[in-house]
Amino acid sequence: MDIKPIVAGNWKMHKSGEEGVSFVGKIKNRILDKVEAKVIFCPPFTSLFSIVKALNGTDFSVGAQNAHFEVEGAYTGEISVGMLKSAGVQYVILGHSERRHIFGETDVWINKKIHAVLNAELVPIFCIGETLDDRKSNQTTLVLENQINLGLQGMESIDPVKMIIAYEPVWAIGTGETASLDQVAEAHAYVQSVLERMFGQVGYKVPILYGGSVNENNAMELIQAKGVDGFLIGGASIKEESFCSIVEQVSKFYKR
Ligand code: 13P
Repeated sequence: MDIKPIVAGNWKMHKSGEEGVSFVGKIKNRILDKVEAKVIFCPPFTSLFSIVKALNGTDFSVGAQNAHFEVEGAYTGEISVGMLKSAGVQYVILGHSERRHIFGETDVWINKKIHAVLNAELVPIFCIGETLDDRKSNQTTLVLENQINLGLQGMESIDPVKMIIAYEPVWAIGTGETASLDQVAEAHAYVQSVLERMFGQVGYKVPILYGGSVNENNAMELIQAKGVDGFLIGGASIKEESFCSIVEQVSKFYKR
């Protein structure tokens, strides 16, 4: 199976509704004809409806940055998967390191969220990654394996078109420091091997994105690293030039 390169932009807490619609409008005009990558915009909750509408009729998709696992109830400030679905969202980022480290999300919660998203037939973009301390103490593979095991607990099978993994080393997020090609290839190969052990051969086909200081200058090199099926991009995804350049550069690299 060839995997179309995937470029997902995690806008984090950036852009108002108007700014978001204007931004995707410009991107659409610039790259719509040339895009061979799967492009997913992940704006803040308040922009989801308007951006889904602005992208109607295109191949671009929209993802949310989080979701709660309960269907409804007294959960002030939370958004359910059903609400996201009714807004036209197709993907949900889960387990991002900022959710884990700033907001204290546990593997147990992330696991519940993954099940809720899959039950609603949306696609999780499940983030994993080690801290600098983990890497320095040679715990990287152990940490990745634990995050995958706990995050995907209770899943008996996996469908590679309904799951995306994002390997985002915490020390590379927003720091300008990218993992080396060897580090990326090694981590992706390890994640593939864990998925294969858990789910058999089909596990190998789950797309794995790299995230962490990806920009227009390193994208071409990183997309060619073994096992990299695309990117989850933060800072560079909210800049028109950078994002268009990355999408154009990686478009031709179908993997596996
Ligand atoms: P940066 O691209 O800004 O390092 O952020 C990566 C990220 O966290 C994407 O989810």
